[in-house]
Amino acid sequence: MTKKGFIFDLDGVIVDTAKYHFLAWQNLAKSIDIDFTHEQNEQLKGVSRVKSLEKILEWGNKTISEELFASLMGKKNDEYLSFIAKMTDQEILPDVPRVLDYLIEKKQPISLGSASKNARPILDKVNLLSKFDAIVDGNDVSKAKPDPEVFLIAAQHLNMKPEDCIVFEDSVAGVQAANTANMISIGIGEKDVLHEADYIFSDFTEIDNSFIDKLINK
Ligand code: G6P
Ligand code: MG
Repeated sequence: MTKKGFIFDLDGVIVDTAKYHFLAWQNLAKSIDIDFTHEQNEQLKGVSRVKSLEKILEWGNKTISEELFASLMGKKNDEYLSFIAKMTDQEILPDVPRVLDYLIEKKQPISLGSASKNARPILDKVNLLSKFDAIVDGNDVSKAKPDPEVFLIAAQHLNMKPEDCIVFEDSVAGVQAANTANMISIGIGEKDVLHEADYIFSDFTEIDNSFIDKLINK
C-alpha cells in the first residue's frame, strides 16, 4: 500500500489554542505599552516564542534588557499555560480525530510538526498523544518557520522523503516552510491569508476521506 507522511501543525490546526497565544501576547504587549493588532498576530502564528517577542518589540519600537526579555517570555508562557490548564478535549478542532483515525486505519505515518515547546503536554491533555508516530516540536529545532527544519526532521522520523509528505498548517510561515521543504501544503483557515498553500480548507470538516485517499495515492 502507498504510504505518505502526514505532518500536522498543532496550534490552530489540531487544537484551538491560537486564541490563547493571541490573548497572552496581547496582554503582554499592553503591559509594556505596545499596541498589538489581529493583523500582527497573524504574522506571529507558527513563529517561535523568542521570535514573537522580538517582533512585538520591533513593532513597538522598543529595546529592552536581556533580563526583562527573559522575564517577559516567562510571563507570557505562564499566562498561556494558565489557559491551557483549563483546556479539555472539547477544544480539539472539528473533525481532527476523524481524520487522524482514518489515517491510522490506512496505516499512514503521522507526525506533529510544531514550533511550540508546550506541544507534548497539550496533546496529552486532549488525549491525542497516542495518535502520533513522531512528535517534532519547538524543543527539537533551532530554526523557526518559515525555515523548513521542523518538517524535514518530521519526515526523517517518519522515514519518508520530503516530497512524499503532506503538511497541515494554519499559518503563513508554516505554509511557506512546507513549500520550501518540497512538501504538499494544506492550509487550514482563510483563503486570502493562506493563498500560498497547494490546497486550502476552512477546517477539517471540508476534508473528506476521498480527498485523503487522493493524497495517499498521489
Ligand atoms: C506555535 C504558535 C505560535 C507560538 C509558537 C511557540 O507555532 O502558532 O503562536 O508562539 O508555537 O509556542 P510555545 O508554546 O512554545 O510558546
Ligand atoms: Mg499553527
